[in-house]
Amino acid sequence: MSDTKQGLNKGLTSYGDEGFSLFLRKAFIKGMGYSDDALDRPIIGIVDTGSGFNACHANVPDLIEAAKRGVLLAGALPVPFPTISIHESFAHPTSMYLRNLMSIDTEEMIRAQPMDAVVLIGGCDKTVPAQSMGAASAGLPAIHLVTGPMLTGSHRGERVGACTDCRRFWARYRAGEVDEGEIAEVNERLVPGAGTCGVMGTASTMALVVEALGMMLPGGATAPAVSADRRRIAEATGALAAEMAAARRVPSQIMTAKAFENALTVLLAIGGSTNGIVHLAAMAGRVGLKLDLDAFDRIGRKVPVLVDLKPSGRNYMEDLHDAGGLPTILRELRDHLHLGCLTVTGRTLGEEIDRAPAGFPQEIVATVADPVYPQGGMAVLRGNLAPDGAIVKQSAATPELLRHRGRAVVFSSVEDMAARVDDPNLDVQADDVLVLQNAGPKGAPGMPEAGYMPIPRKLARQGVKDMVRISDARMSGTASGTIVLHVTPEAAAGGPLALVRDGDMIELDVDGRTLTLDVPPVELERRRSETLVRHHEGSDRGYLKLFLDHVLQADRGCDFDFLVPPVTGTVPAGGE
Ligand code: FES
Ligand code: MG
Repeated sequence: MSDTKQGLNKGLTSYGDEGFSLFLRKAFIKGMGYSDDALDRPIIGIVDTGSGFNACHANVPDLIEAAKRGVLLAGALPVPFPTISIHESFAHPTSMYLRNLMSIDTEEMIRAQPMDAVVLIGGCDKTVPAQSMGAASAGLPAIHLVTGPMLTGSHRGERVGACTDCRRFWARYRAGEVDEGEIAEVNERLVPGAGTCGVMGTASTMALVVEALGMMLPGGATAPAVSADRRRIAEATGALAAEMAAARRVPSQIMTAKAFENALTVLLAIGGSTNGIVHLAAMAGRVGLKLDLDAFDRIGRKVPVLVDLKPSGRNYMEDLHDAGGLPTILRELRDHLHLGCLTVTGRTLGEEIDRAPAGFPQEIVATVADPVYPQGGMAVLRGNLAPDGAIVKQSAATPELLRHRGRAVVFSSVEDMAARVDDPNLDVQADDVLVLQNAGPKGAPGMPEAGYMPIPRKLARQGVKDMVRISDARMSGTASGTIVLHVTPEAAAGGPLALVRDGDMIELDVDGRTLTLDVPPVELERRRSETLVRHHEGSDRGYLKLFLDHVLQADRGCDFDFLVPPVTGTVPAGGE
């Protein structure tokens, strides 16, 4: 038997007799028909996140086949293994609640089983950050392979895609503009096949951001799920993973403060999902880095939105792929990036930009000189209503509402909102501010994407399309509106959001970066004594208990406190 410490020999089960442990291990894996020749080489784990509940991962079996081919061509042995799979629509109470569980699963399975590098196949929103967090903590060479965006569908001649158009059609249905028959028809068109949502939602955002971070094959974020490009990327990813194993190229060499700054710059330039900031905070946290939200805001004042994709713009991911994908964006952003950052290939980001095809006409990625939106897609707000920050996606907001003062209409929970928002007797007008409490990490729990509060039906029927909405929840990256999210600390953790009452005046000033509750401090203190702490059914055991006891606030990425090493630096480096 080989005495190298790689491959099958790695991490033997502790029986106190190493030779016997390896003997047993070989006996069992040979039960699957492997020869000594196959086993006596580096092993590349491939994470299988396919699931009958996950249409976004429906092509995982194909991608595993292609990645295995790449690993074999590079002389290593591919071994797929499962972890949990999370789909946005099949993760009660919310996918965010399960993200950390998936990260623990990923980390521990990488650690428990003998492999020298790992290919992380993910795609749907929470899976890519969960895998990044887990792989960073496990510390083994790791490379992301996303399932890729779905193609667009067509409804009565109009191009549609999940899930910006899902929301648009549903809003029209609520407003009475689309009837029962048509809404059923459009339901068959929105998701025409395998892959992740084809707009700049969280899945697309995380794919692009992880590529920018250097943890994915260059150009790997955008190829459609069902394309030949996607399979070739999978094959190349497998081969690269074998090379990374030999070079022992580990995440901590790639996921540096400067690389995270590049990722933040790209998040802003793509008009990415607000979820991206939470996930990047969590990913950075796993390598001891703390995101400086104010510095992120300063980057946003310099970096414009360049990518014309829904929901901020007009197009879909397949169009961005045809326009050259992330390398086209990176080339335009060159002056804003740290080009010396190492990537999975062993080359720097700058070298990868130089290698990518350039100089062809395209209409999806704008220039810095003539951008889609003059500032970054997101702004960070502070004020007495959000002492530790809140986020607004200004590129997807109504410009006239970015500075607004209005009367609060308060919902105390997601359930309260569901029960009353469409009540014809609800005292609400178009220039009011809708406030949702107790929808944060601990409050809901799991910080659901409830921040995109529906426009009260009676106002929707009058043609009201947008209102200022404020919550400690998140919002789907596929949604748009003047929506203030991630108010921190959340209401359930004693944040001032819990103290807002109907009729209070709230002032939003996105240019000034402020969010103010116009109520005297004495009155807020009085209200604090009468504010109840919510109790969650079943919170005395299991994962819910673990979650509620340990989840951090949004500014720390909603990771669990015990998964995060001590903070040794900030992103951007030298920030704060
Ligand atoms: Fe999976 Fe949108 S639901 S990416
Ligand atoms: Mg989403």
